Amino acid sequence: MPLVTSTEMFKKAYKGGYAVGAFNVNNMETIQGIVEAGQECKSPLILQVSAGARKYANPVYLKHLIEAAVATTDIPIVMHLDHGADFEACKSAIDDGFTSVMIDASHHAFAENIEITKKVVAYAHDRGVVVEAELGQLAGIEDAVNVKAEDACFTHPDEVCEFTEKTGCDSLAIAIGTSHGAYKFKPGQKPQLRFDILEEVGKRLPGFPIVLHGASSVPQDKVAIINQFGGKMPDAIGIPEEMLRKAATMAVCKINIDSDLRVACTAAIRKHFAEHPDHFDPRQYLGDARAAVKELVKHKIVDVLGSDNKA
Ligand code: G3H
Ligand code: 13P
Ligand code: ZN
Repeated sequence: MPLVTSTEMFKKAYKGGYAVGAFNVNNMETIQGIVEAGQECKSPLILQVSAGARKYANPVYLKHLIEAAVATTDIPIVMHLDHGADFEACKSAIDDGFTSVMIDASHHAFAENIEITKKVVAYAHDRGVVVEAELGQLAGIEDAVNVKAEDACFTHPDEVCEFTEKTGCDSLAIAIGTSHGAYKFKPGQKPQLRFDILEEVGKRLPGFPIVLHGASSVPQDKVAIINQFGGKMPDAIGIPEEMLRKAATMAVCKINIDSDLRVACTAAIRKHFAEHPDHFDPRQYLGDARAAVKELVKHKIVDVLGSDNKA
């Protein structure tokens, strides 16, 4: 099946009370692990690429790796630009064949966010590409943007109708207490999300797909393996999976997961080296990383997103 946009995916997800996983990809093994999991679970998938990923792998390599994965499956897959910083970044991805882009102008003032998003939407829609925008700011580090916890701000439900009407965006990322990275809450702090904001946004925008960034759960068994085998990830904490499951039954149609993939890969590779100090063939330890990604993504699809058998 060729690459698709998220339009039909999100309509079905909204009605069906589940969410589609948007997994960040940087290399071949991660792409293969995610897509094999999606295929076995018959789940739609969003493969998303950050500016950092494009720089690391080379945009041409990444695009062709994703296209190769798509050619080996019959599930619907979206190729999405994650956190497009400006019009030029989005234009470059659209010209390159991405079926979906995110313009992240959330750190600009409201009116400026609208103007920048509107310009991307016009260019994208003329070419059959869909656009995710963002209102409110998450804490955490993502590529060029490092938002301190004190500068993060929740989305104001009062702003969402004007924003979506004026920009024409196809989905909206909101800030309800998730954050990027593997250290989302301080030790002793109770993980909390502002479900009241999500509910209010859902009421103001009935049927409109909402996106959650910073939605990794940072599996503690994997963190323990990393720490057991020479790593140092003290106090790494994520979003409890039951909260994400609840969000998926509400207006949230897309859930972004990157840090969990990183943690799963790192745990597998550290364990591999500890148990096989004589190994030096990358296929051995990267093979373990690929299997760990596949297992993690299957778990997310079945137990968190609820997107199995929806392809
Ligand atoms: O939100 C950002 C994603 O986790 C991508 O991270 O910019 O390090 O590729 P990256
Ligand atoms: P995590 O760091 O929680 O995986 O978030 C990823 C993300 O939002 C990518 O845009
Ligand atoms: Zn993000």
